Amino acid sequence: MNNIRNFCIIAHIDHGKSTLADRLLEYTKTLEGKALTEQTLDNMDLERERGITIKSHAIQMNYEKNGQKYTLNLIDTPGHVDFSYEVSRSIAACEGALLIVDATQGIQAQTISNLYQAINHDLHIIPILNKMDLPNAMPEEVEDQIIELVGCDRSEIIHASGKTGLGVYDILDAIIERVPAPKGDGNAPLQCLIFDSVFNSFRGIIAYFKVVNGSISKGDLVKFVATGKEYYADEVGVLRLDLQPCEKLGAGNVGYIISGIKTSKEVKVGDTITHVKNPCSKAIEGFEEVKPMVFAGVYPIDAEDYEDLRASIEKLQLNDASLTFQPESSAALGFGFRCGFLGLLHMEIIQERLDREFDMNVITTVPNVPYKAYTKKDELVEVHMPSMLPEATLLDHVEEPYIRAQVITKTEYIGSIMTLCLGKRGELIKQNYLMGDRVEIEYDMPLAEIVFDFYDKLKSISRGYASFDYYPIGYRTSKLAKLDILLNSEPVDALSTLTHVDNAQTFGRKMCEKLQELIPRQQFDIAIQAAIGAKIVARETIKALRKDVTAKCYGGDISRKRKLLEKQKKGKKKMKQIGNVEVPQKAFLAVLKLD
Ligand code: GTP
Repeated sequence: MNNIRNFCIIAHIDHGKSTLADRLLEYTKTLEGKALTEQTLDNMDLERERGITIKSHAIQMNYEKNGQKYTLNLIDTPGHVDFSYEVSRSIAACEGALLIVDATQGIQAQTISNLYQAINHDLHIIPILNKMDLPNAMPEEVEDQIIELVGCDRSEIIHASGKTGLGVYDILDAIIERVPAPKGDGNAPLQCLIFDSVFNSFRGIIAYFKVVNGSISKGDLVKFVATGKEYYADEVGVLRLDLQPCEKLGAGNVGYIISGIKTSKEVKVGDTITHVKNPCSKAIEGFEEVKPMVFAGVYPIDAEDYEDLRASIEKLQLNDASLTFQPESSAALGFGFRCGFLGLLHMEIIQERLDREFDMNVITTVPNVPYKAYTKKDELVEVHMPSMLPEATLLDHVEEPYIRAQVITKTEYIGSIMTLCLGKRGELIKQNYLMGDRVEIEYDMPLAEIVFDFYDKLKSISRGYASFDYYPIGYRTSKLAKLDILLNSEPVDALSTLTHVDNAQTFGRKMCEKLQELIPRQQFDIAIQAAIGAKIVARETIKALRKDVTAKCYGGDISRKRKLLEKQKKGKKKMKQIGNVEVPQKAFLAVLKLD
């Protein structure tokens, strides 16, 4: 155990985490030449395209120094707020963290919040200035920021480049010298912390864990504490580039278990694995059920695809336990599912995976956060969609989820960012001048305001010089109104939203304007109205258009005519018929892009 080092990497998106991780694998000969595809740690296609590490992974390296053989376990962490609970569990499995900061960019909000988590877990921090090969690197300024944040000595900061390989051996040495060995007791009852799991279509769920105390062997009868389920450990092993089975894993080490588990719901990140005989007296602290923070309806474009859609979502859920779903129906869209996601990015990823992996063409409705409605009889109704909000006469009050937002930016943008936050019902908590011309601000804000377009707006008003992170801080009472949209006097339930009463009217007006832009002109006039209860608060009209696509064919060629009609029909595929109006998919998400 003395020769084991468990560490993770904390970095802002694009600061070079994956590139540097690849160098570590290369320099420890975990990967040789050809096996080194760019960014080995991100192995999902989608991940590579988006450049975001979506699911955390772990990989073991061997390294020899001064005649001693060391086992280094790198536990990868996802870099997006939607996945912050996974980050916290990965951090809990480590004793050290590499803090990678882009020398041309400096510290960003995401780095800070993950760093605080690491410091709270008593991880030893190794600060690294990355991208030192770039001419616009600002080592001194960024070093100052790091020193202020971590409280380290300037000499502890390693200069590195994932591109040229500068500093990579220094990093490996620092991991061995500075990160403490894990502290577990090999003779105590078994306690393993699950920090991740993946689904494999042949082998079922593979759970990744760190042995905190005791040891686990192949064939052991084990219990997962939070779910209460028991399994035989069919296989245990360590994670190299592939799974490498072994007989036994001792305290401090990181590995995997395969035990015939079929769905990801049975393996919860943060849960403890122990032996059925001689179990540990209590589970490892910090376990939480991950709760979806954004809900949206997902409907097949073609009603016939409903069962296929169900099968596809079920399959996705096998390897993504944070995705929840239940059937729902909408007057406008027919039968579909109400899905719960960790955040907007998670929602986009699921939508894309449905499209790519299952060829499912779906319509997603306006997303909303989970509200808690209390009736006058003091009953709690969890509101996952606008139609679930109890009638005004029965309703006592509604609570909505709040978050604390951290923004780091340059002083010149602070005014417009504060205006933005205020417009999003934010309450200023803290304003802190950092080194140079950088400011950190904290706001308490309703999650609903963040979910829509906050991040895009923040980026545009700060010209990209603002970083943003948030964490949930519980529910607060709020005044909400249900805003309905009517097309030719027919309410379209899929376009309803819950919004704060003060914003409802403006919001309704903008929705009408946006829909007028997005819904194509048709053979008749279309009236778009926004209503709160029976009161119409805004209205726009789309003027009729007459268009005969076959007119150009002079009546002659039937097959050509048919082809054109087919083509037109195909073009309509991305449309949904609502009453007599054709509505394109993007209209359902119009609310996300209101100015
Ligand atoms: P996410 O996976 O999105 O969190 O990003 P990451 O932090 O893993 O960054 P990644 O390794 O994907 O690098 C981001 C970009 O910076 C890529 O285009 C890299 O080629 C580039 N890059 C990474 N390290 C260096 C470096 O040391 N020098 C230079 N010049 N570019 C680098």
